[in-house]
Amino acid sequence: MVDLSVNLGDIRLDNPVIPASGTCGFGLELAEWYDINMLGAISLKGTTRDPRFGNALPRIAECPSGLINSVGLENPGIDKLLSEKIPALRAIYHKPIIANISGFSVEDFAFCAEKAESCPDIDILEVNISCPNVHGGGMALGTDPEVAAAVTRAVKQVSSKPVFVKLTPNVTDIVTIARACEAAGADGLTVINTLLGMRIDIRTRKPVVAAGTGGFSGPAIFPIAVRAVYQVAHACRIPVMGCGGISTAEEVIEMLMAGAAAVQVGSASLVNPLACKEIIEQLPVVMERLGLKDLKQLKLN
Ligand code: FUM
Repeated sequence: MVDLSVNLGDIRLDNPVIPASGTCGFGLELAEWYDINMLGAISLKGTTRDPRFGNALPRIAECPSGLINSVGLENPGIDKLLSEKIPALRAIYHKPIIANISGFSVEDFAFCAEKAESCPDIDILEVNISCPNVHGGGMALGTDPEVAAAVTRAVKQVSSKPVFVKLTPNVTDIVTIARACEAAGADGLTVINTLLGMRIDIRTRKPVVAAGTGGFSGPAIFPIAVRAVYQVAHACRIPVMGCGGISTAEEVIEMLMAGAAAVQVGSASLVNPLACKEIIEQLPVVMERLGLKDLKQLKLN
């Protein structure tokens, strides 16, 4: 009998598999497919101060080994998250809830974090300074270490919840940003969000997504995510949720060996809504094959 549990800071997860923000709506969408209480935790769709319609259509470009999205943070706003989405999820789901907040200024993040403080059902705040699909915020706040630190500090000042900052890979040195967030008080990091990408329709000579560019995710970015997690986890003391292109139980273990404390599964769920369930079911099989009794402290030799 193997032990799938992991520790994400002070929070114990029954297993390390977490649907990534933006790939499971507000949780109930996945509950149509299986009992979501089998998940380690859930990260909800990025939520902003005010409701947002998101970017113009089309928003998705399929690519070999991945996809580009330019959703543009479509969401109902923080008030509706707290008054409707989380209560509806909590009614059927008893594991940790990660609320992903986003914004266009330091004040926006502090506003959302302060509101979230009143919600006991939020177990972790994920501070998304890495969305590549909006102008004047999102990723723009996560590419400069001082700004990333300012957002982290502002959120920590108003929040007593564990704060995980979600980092962008679209920087020269992700470790500098990670260290700045850690020094500003982050309790953990999510590594990585999507890579900025673009496809062009050669018949129309226009970008495939209306916004022109979008965030590239899927199996193609897995090696980049492993590298980033390895660098960050070995440079920082706070726990890392590894994210980017994971679609198999073997890749979960690889990400844990890179230094992640838990993992987020994103695009795989968009291709197969049962992806997280199947990965969790497969984990004991792969662990037994590798002679692993548990998933804690997996290290490179
Ligand atoms: O466009 C989006 O809503 C994506 C958000 C993100 O990548 O964080």
